[in-house]
Amino acid sequence: MTSLGVAFADDALEARVSHGVDLVEEHLARVIDSDEQFITEAAAHLLNAGGKRFRPMLVLVCAEFGDPTHPDVVPAGTAVELTHLATLYHDDVMDEADIRRGAESANSRWDNSLAILVGDYLFAHASEVVSTLGPEAVGVQARTFARLVKGQIRETIGPRDGEDPLAHYLSVVADKTGSLIATSAQFGATMGRAPDDVVAALTEFGERIGVAFQLSDDILDVASESSDSGKTPGTDLREGVPTLPVILVQRSTDPADAELVRLLSGPITDDVDVSRALDALRAHPAMDEARAVVQAEADAARALLAKLPDTPARVALRAICDTLATRLS
Ligand code: IPE
Ligand code: IPE
Ligand code: MG
Ligand code: MG
Repeated sequence: MTSLGVAFADDALEARVSHGVDLVEEHLARVIDSDEQFITEAAAHLLNAGGKRFRPMLVLVCAEFGDPTHPDVVPAGTAVELTHLATLYHDDVMDEADIRRGAESANSRWDNSLAILVGDYLFAHASEVVSTLGPEAVGVQARTFARLVKGQIRETIGPRDGEDPLAHYLSVVADKTGSLIATSAQFGATMGRAPDDVVAALTEFGERIGVAFQLSDDILDVASESSDSGKTPGTDLREGVPTLPVILVQRSTDPADAELVRLLSGPITDDVDVSRALDALRAHPAMDEARAVVQAEADAARALLAKLPDTPARVALRAICDTLATRLS
């Protein structure tokens, strides 16, 4: 394991990616800097609180399929992390979350209005950075953002009458999370000037690991401790957002599950009920079923790598697939 959480196997690759992430970090700090000191402080709040920098790392690894030193690669990493960061400010308002990256969420530290406005500020700067990458990149970023927001909206309104909850959930996950992770892979490969077929394969791969990433995040919302995730466990239960383990329990016709199904039927407001639901879910076979779905998604993503040249970067992408499944055990 490395500081990036992925076993790279190749030391030279790891050093290049690690250096690239450092450059993204410096660029991020420059980009959010404002002449209004409060704005800089509020924008730096979650940026400096932590985070895995998974999306910039993916940009850098995918750029390895072309020229990773191309000057457009680092700005692409900056743009995807800024976009992601902005969505975190907004998502914590939607989810009424108090903790993010182990720190107070912006809505909790200040208020909803400021959290939304700082998110907008970050989106604006992400767009500005993408504009330096050319008109095609601007179009990709705009379509990505539209998909991401569509996912967040469809999560909020829930399935239509008669729509299968699992199908709804999986399409929401692809839109809200698969979209930006696919674009991270696409930007990395495009900005490194990789061949078109490689860009296409990496985009498809990014979409697939993006889905696996969100599915595993949703399992961790049930299974992990705040000290590990930097977030409050059970946030999805409190908000009444049914995720994979919950949807699998809700399909159960076993009378022994009836009480849990009732508890999971809407937002859970009482802390004692949240703890009861978390305990019951953690002990339920649906958790292993959900883990198996993540494993299957990670395997499907890994299979897509067969289309790519056999390089240390491809080995690193395979390691990312492994990490997604193993972070659940
Ligand atoms: C959190 O993303 C939101 C999801 C899409 C699951 P990350 O798990 O990448 O969050 P950070 O950047 O490491 O905080
Ligand atoms: C977040 O989904 C997805 C986006 C920010 C687009 P979640 O609400 O499940 O993510 P966390 O758990 O708050 O990070
Ligand atoms: Mg959330
Ligand atoms: Mg959310």
